[in-house]
Amino acid sequence: MSKTESWGSRVGLILAMAGNAVGLGNFLRFPVQAIQNGGGAFIIPYLVCFLLMGIPLLWVEWSMGRFGGRSGHHSTPFILHNMDPKRALWKYVGVFGIFTNIAVAAYYCYLESWTLSYIWHSVAGTFMDMGAEGVASFFNSYIDISVSTTGIPYEAIWFWLLCLLLNTWILSKGLSGGVEKVAMIGMPLLIVFGLFLAIRGVTLKAGEHGAVYDGTVGLNFLWTPDYSSIWKPSVWLAAAGQIFFTLSVGMGSIQCYASYVRKKDDIALNAMSAGWMNEFVEVVLGGAIIIPIAIGYLGIDKVKELTATGGLGLGFKTLPYLFTQWGPWLSAIAGVCWFGLLFFAGITSSLAMGTPVMGFLQDEFGWKRGPSAWMFGLVVLLLGLPTVLFFEHGVFDEYDYWAGTVSLVIFALLEVILFAWVFGMDKGWAEINMGADLRPPTVYRFIIKYVTPVILAVVFLASLPGIWEKITAPASPYLHASRLLLLAVYAGIALLVRKAYLKRKRHAHGMV
Ligand code: ALA
Repeated sequence: MSKTESWGSRVGLILAMAGNAVGLGNFLRFPVQAIQNGGGAFIIPYLVCFLLMGIPLLWVEWSMGRFGGRSGHHSTPFILHNMDPKRALWKYVGVFGIFTNIAVAAYYCYLESWTLSYIWHSVAGTFMDMGAEGVASFFNSYIDISVSTTGIPYEAIWFWLLCLLLNTWILSKGLSGGVEKVAMIGMPLLIVFGLFLAIRGVTLKAGEHGAVYDGTVGLNFLWTPDYSSIWKPSVWLAAAGQIFFTLSVGMGSIQCYASYVRKKDDIALNAMSAGWMNEFVEVVLGGAIIIPIAIGYLGIDKVKELTATGGLGLGFKTLPYLFTQWGPWLSAIAGVCWFGLLFFAGITSSLAMGTPVMGFLQDEFGWKRGPSAWMFGLVVLLLGLPTVLFFEHGVFDEYDYWAGTVSLVIFALLEVILFAWVFGMDKGWAEINMGADLRPPTVYRFIIKYVTPVILAVVFLASLPGIWEKITAPASPYLHASRLLLLAVYAGIALLVRKAYLKRKRHAHGMV
């Protein structure tokens, strides 16, 4: 993205930001988290975390981004540095905002590529006569890339490369010419696909197409509150984790997107539009597809058992089989809608992960848009390779834990301290309100300063025993190697930031 690049339209910006947030987490992660953590009662900690942590972080990240963009900064190392130029520390904290995007993209794009392959197989009717066992073992052999059930050798790798190429090519077209266009097409399609499947899910009737229960049984199960769960700290941690993941806060991608808005463009209302759109897609559509359909066919006990291992199994091993009960045509349409919506949800998020890296290379090293997009693609290819080759050794989950979970909390905690306490709430609040079409309620000034940092500190402290357990538990060489690799990536980016800083300093002195 060049320094003069900006969003083409307000609708495009909101859809791109909503696309950044709406991702695989909305459809695969949220319903499973809800079931595991008290069903309808989960929504209470979830909403509290959204109101007290999610919304404040959205405003903080949007305004930090716009503030940095005014001085020509489009990635968090120098966006943060710009807010407190006297302390060297912040630019290294800002490294998180590049590191997380690269490391999450490394495994996320692989997951995204499965959806492409499954669209193809839904159209080709691959799942039609396989039976439940066959569809489940299809997935297992798909990720065990050495086995080919379809005759295409190394199929998972080809689809992964295709997915990476697609991401890189779109990124090379720029913000308004690439990312925004994909969001303008992908987000409405995603909602249409989602509505179609949600209506099918909710109106599923026992006895029709082999269903055993009505779709409403699943809906009731998902939303029946178990109030005893509200007092469990683990439920609050899960709710906070879901808010982080689903809104993409603490990642550095929102700041980057926001750094390309114009100087006085509204951010207060735009941030809310994108944030609430994500919540609609997550709670309404995310809750009405996978669980009602799965319970309609398999019953509550079986689905409970299946969700114990997360949403991937239900989404890729169970749903394609259940769709085959609807006959060849409807099954193909449902498969295209389900994996198509997952694909659009995924790609609009992975594109957002590419922009901070590109912004950094362009701002600091004068790279052009094309080469910086290809460099991002290359880095994701290299870092993603272990997640593809050693998926079954837990490398994928290891990346998700460190980059997609722990890093988000640490970065969000530090950035909100910088914003509210170092940059200062007076300046911060003025930033949020500048150009606002709808002013945020004044109580948020208090919340951003006191409540959000305290909640984040509590979430971080409460996560420490789990982190410690993870570090000290016996681990395979694959997991040790993944951790070292991720550390090396962080250190490498920090070195580049230092180099860029010294270059800036030399440049500033040269000008004096
Ligand atoms: N926010 C993105 C998701 O929900 C990363 O998948």
